[in-house]
Amino acid sequence: MTAHRIALLPGDGVGPEVVEQARLAVEATGVEVAWETLDWGSDHYRRHGRMMPEDGPERLKGFDAVLLGAVGEPSIPDHVTLWGLLLPIRQRLDLWANLRPARLLPGVPTPLADRGPEDIDILVLRENTEGEYSGVGGRAHQGLEHEVGLETSVFARSVLERLIRYAFELAAERRGVLTSATKSNASRFGYVLWDEVAAGVAAEHSAVRYERVLVDALAARMVQDPGSLDVVVASNLFGDILTDLAAAIQGGMGMAASANVGPGGGAPGVFEPVHGSAPDIAGQGIANPCGAIWSASMMLSTVGEDAAAARIMDALERVCRDGLRTRDLGGDASTAEVGSAVARHASERSLAEDERDM
Ligand code: NAD
Ligand code: IPM
Ligand code: MN
Repeated sequence: MTAHRIALLPGDGVGPEVVEQARLAVEATGVEVAWETLDWGSDHYRRHGRMMPEDGPERLKGFDAVLLGAVGEPSIPDHVTLWGLLLPIRQRLDLWANLRPARLLPGVPTPLADRGPEDIDILVLRENTEGEYSGVGGRAHQGLEHEVGLETSVFARSVLERLIRYAFELAAERRGVLTSATKSNASRFGYVLWDEVAAGVAAEHSAVRYERVLVDALAARMVQDPGSLDVVVASNLFGDILTDLAAAIQGGMGMAASANVGPGGGAPGVFEPVHGSAPDIAGQGIANPCGAIWSASMMLSTVGEDAAAARIMDALERVCRDGLRTRDLGGDASTAEVGSAVARHASERSLAEDERDM
């Protein structure tokens, strides 16, 4: 069996700290990986004037998957760093689906009173290449009093159709409920098209219960009745905002994982925690590595290593159940302590595996 070629893109802030723990978890499973670390990010920008080489996205096509930390640093404007690295990678590799599971793992405290793991198990499917993030816009009359900034949302029927079809497939494999986040009351064009496409695809999927919910009401429902949500499909911006909220109810930013993928397209997926570079805690060794480790598990199942992916999730859940926690979760464990515990469990053969091979 040949090794999986995986690019490590640790990036900025806490990115390198959490990616290292995710890498160790993958190594612990025994899966064969040929790693290549790419030094793209804010330091690269300072040295070369660009966040990544011009052909960065093309180069990534030579890998089976990419494990990314975070991008962004207080000394460089965020639109420069993000439009120099993460956003063009998502667009140019056509990674149109951003999968963000928000599941409360047993042992992890949630800020929602009287809720537990049985109430919080949501999969958000976020559109990942256009909508409010199309990059279409501009500024005119710069520096004058009547200066304007234009940011145009773009919704293509074909892009919505493939996204929403995929959302129905995911819902059919889970609890059979699909909630579409819309804003077709204030928006007259983009989200009206969104709703039309969703209703059309819904007509082909009678086994899934489909509902459209205005995104503001949906945000409230995610707090008040998260158990009523199964798969949520959302635009780029709505998905972004809802998944920070979802991260909060699953324990915090450090817990949330994501997969940027283009199903059927052949480009490598980019797997990254939902959180950013967390400059307020970077360099202290206290960042929660769970979201990054969970993302590595999603990466392994995407490259066909389901058993190793499950091993990492089992190990992660065991560490959470045992109560080993970083500071954001109310504990005092370091990033490396949590990561090593996960890696240690991931390297142990499970009872089920022993029995299977007997
Ligand atoms: P953030 O997610 O970095 O941090 C928000 C809060 O969550 C902070 O208090 C931080 O300490 C905490 N937090 C985040 N990750 C954590 C972890 N692993 N463990 C414990 N606590 C954690 O969001 P922000 O502060 O809005 O953004 C910081 C920078 O990151 C900005 O430059 C932003 O553009 C960038 N950003 C990048 C990505 C990405 O690369 N995917 C995502 C979001 C934000
Ligand atoms: C995320 C991040 C990015 C996004 C930013 C950093 C551009 O917040 O992955 O959630 O908005 O997509
Ligand atoms: Mn975000």
